[in-house]
Amino acid sequence: MAILVTGGAGYIGTHTCVELLESGKDIVVVDNCVNSKPEALNRVRQLTGRDFPFYELDILDTGALGRVFKDNQIDAVIHFAGLKAVGESVQKPLAYYKNNITGTLSLLEAMAAANCRRMVFSSSATVYGANPDVPFKETYPTMAATNPYGATKLMIETILRDLYTADNGWSIALLRYFNPIGAHTSGVLGEDPNGIPNNLLPIIARVVTGKMEILNVTGDDYDTPDGTGVRDYLHVCDLADGHVKAIDYVMGKTGVEAINLGTGKGYSVYEVIKAFEAASGVKVPYKVAPRRPGDIATSYADATKAKELLRWGATRGIDEMCRDLWNFLQKNPNGL
Ligand code: NAD
Ligand code: WQD
Repeated sequence: MAILVTGGAGYIGTHTCVELLESGKDIVVVDNCVNSKPEALNRVRQLTGRDFPFYELDILDTGALGRVFKDNQIDAVIHFAGLKAVGESVQKPLAYYKNNITGTLSLLEAMAAANCRRMVFSSSATVYGANPDVPFKETYPTMAATNPYGATKLMIETILRDLYTADNGWSIALLRYFNPIGAHTSGVLGEDPNGIPNNLLPIIARVVTGKMEILNVTGDDYDTPDGTGVRDYLHVCDLADGHVKAIDYVMGKTGVEAINLGTGKGYSVYEVIKAFEAASGVKVPYKVAPRRPGDIATSYADATKAKELLRWGATRGIDEMCRDLWNFLQKNPNGL
């Protein structure tokens, strides 16, 4: 019996594959490598000493997915596959709706046909919108997204809830990630996005490795202690561990549960810069730039439910996140 990991060659997917394998589970990976490389999965094999089937396919290809389910005994699915660049989603909404929504529908069709009705879904704190009441709780109403990417996450959560209403045989965890950063402590795995990244730490990574000249601090006039945006940064290995616990959770019951995966603590952009400089010994050149449209001032998790339901909590702090990222960059200056 195995866990199917869609998007398993990606940043969070690879780190989760390591944790799944190290917890003794078997995995099967599907990924079309639109934002990753097969080499990342060789790193997973190298780190764990374990092999697993990898199918380079698009989840929009329902027939190909059907063959994966036919050829493997799949217990449950962790669904990472999706496009995730907020800025790009504004430029290419149809590509995002087709890839993320239709791709998920295709996957659900293949799952239902194979009578596999357990899913852990990669949702996002973005579904809370610009709610001013932090920390965000799962009971909060989700808010209209400010970009097509966020809208796809919201829509997929709705699709999965409707699916459960129609068939109570499903067991679904909607994991709302806050801001995953960092890299596997070995330095063998890390975030290696294609193209220009949107997120703060991959941009800092580009700046300190000389691929970008300077970091633009997008807004220093927010209603926060130092005026810059505050976010709940979470070590990607803590996030990966949360998925192992979520798989055990969905194996044991039916229903749909939204669960925050965050540390419950927020750091400002300036605090992250300071932490990265301390961890790396390298200065991060920056200048203040205008706010990004749609950005919110503050976002961090109420992490109580994950502790109660999954017996999961973040164990690594911002210094370790920055140290592990720097270690990965030093060992992989040109990516994977
Ligand atoms: P990533 O881009 O590194 O990984 C996504 C993987 O999915 C990539 O390997 C990509 O090639 C693959 N993929 C995309 N479309 C596909 C398709 N149609 N068929 C097959 N494979 C496809 O991103 P990540 O940071 O690892 O994020 C994983 C998931 O978590 C995404 O759904 C993302 O929206 C979600 N998420 C990420 C963050 C974050 O800050 N990284 C935060 C919240 C939620
Ligand atoms: C963090 C902070 C920026 C870039 C996004 C998505 C979310 C999820 C995580 C996928 C903010 C500031 C950023 C830069 C900066 N992704 N910043 N200069 O916006 O919290 O969340 O990624 O699901 O859905 O919305 O993360 O890393 O882009 O920004 O000053 O060049 O860093 O203003 O305060 P964000 P981020």
